[in-house]
Amino acid sequence: MTAQDFIPKSYSNNPSQGQHSWSSPSNIALVKYWGKRAHQIPENPSVSFTLNYCKTITLVSYSKKVAHSEFSFEVYLDGELKDSFKPKIETFFKRIEAYLPFLKAYHFKIETKNTFPHSSGIASSASGMSALALCLMSIEQEFTSNTMETSFFYKKASFLARLGSGSACRSLEGDLVVWGEHKEIKGSSNLFGTKYPYTVHKNFKNYQDTILLVDKGEKQVSSTVGHNLMHNHPFANRRFEQAHDNLSKLISVFESGDLDAFIKIVESEALTLHAMMMTSMPYFILMKPNTLEIINRIWKYRAQNQSKICFTLDAGANVHVLYPESETKEVMTFITSELVAFCQNGHYISDQIGFGAEYLS
Ligand code: DP6
Repeated sequence: MTAQDFIPKSYSNNPSQGQHSWSSPSNIALVKYWGKRAHQIPENPSVSFTLNYCKTITLVSYSKKVAHSEFSFEVYLDGELKDSFKPKIETFFKRIEAYLPFLKAYHFKIETKNTFPHSSGIASSASGMSALALCLMSIEQEFTSNTMETSFFYKKASFLARLGSGSACRSLEGDLVVWGEHKEIKGSSNLFGTKYPYTVHKNFKNYQDTILLVDKGEKQVSSTVGHNLMHNHPFANRRFEQAHDNLSKLISVFESGDLDAFIKIVESEALTLHAMMMTSMPYFILMKPNTLEIINRIWKYRAQNQSKICFTLDAGANVHVLYPESETKEVMTFITSELVAFCQNGHYISDQIGFGAEYLS
């Protein structure tokens, strides 16, 4: 498929108003997306676990306007007008206008809320952009008199979400989603996320992710700036090859359920992501002393208890603690007795693998 395939030819319906609501989860990458080309095309393929409880819930109401000269929308977070969100949404609308030509013909009221605190340091862009893309797709579905096929609906929604925030295209489905072309993964695309198509061992069923909130503040360097620093990065090409190799290795790990091999790949990916930040120009560090303290304690606990606990990181200081469902009781005791002390105000979020976005009304 190409981007052209997402430009609609004509619509058979022309509603004057309506509303749609979706919930969409966050996701945590196992092989990381870090580095992109123009039009939000990733430099390497990535794969993520879809989360279950960390979600954005968005309601979009639309009504026809008289003039079609510019975008018209208002955004609310938890019922309060949020003008600070407008520039990001304006950029998103500009990027997707060619694919949703009705955008300037309507006024949109976007009401959104997250199941996790806005100031938790958890990026809401993946869940937020995917929920918004899905609401817009439900509007387009009405314009086609509900004739759009479900598989195309999801592909296009993921395609649009990617243009809002790259990782958002992996949040629509579950439980494992691949984004970016990979020679061994059938159907993988740079344009949208696809459900991982091969066998996944029962060891990964209900895999747990406890997110330790080490630093809830605003990030010093945004992901977009970080991605751009991969241009002319001295290790970029080798890193992009490594991501392809790690995804190849994960195919057999997902099939065999080899958790020791899983841990090596996932932790190496997390540390490589941060190594890329530390070796870009300008360089930066998003981990905090407590991030390292937690990692060391996870390693010690794993060695002492023959546990399959491991960690991953996103572009921040928080630690995602990953472990099989069978270890939930012991690991939660470890987290609450030893690791919570390194979280800001003792805060953490218990999540697990989930199955993607849901249509609400
Ligand atoms: C480290 O998707 O937030 O979480 O496309 O610029 O919006 P933009 O970036 P974003 O980058 C996420 C980077 C990451 C790794 C990942 O999720 O794969």
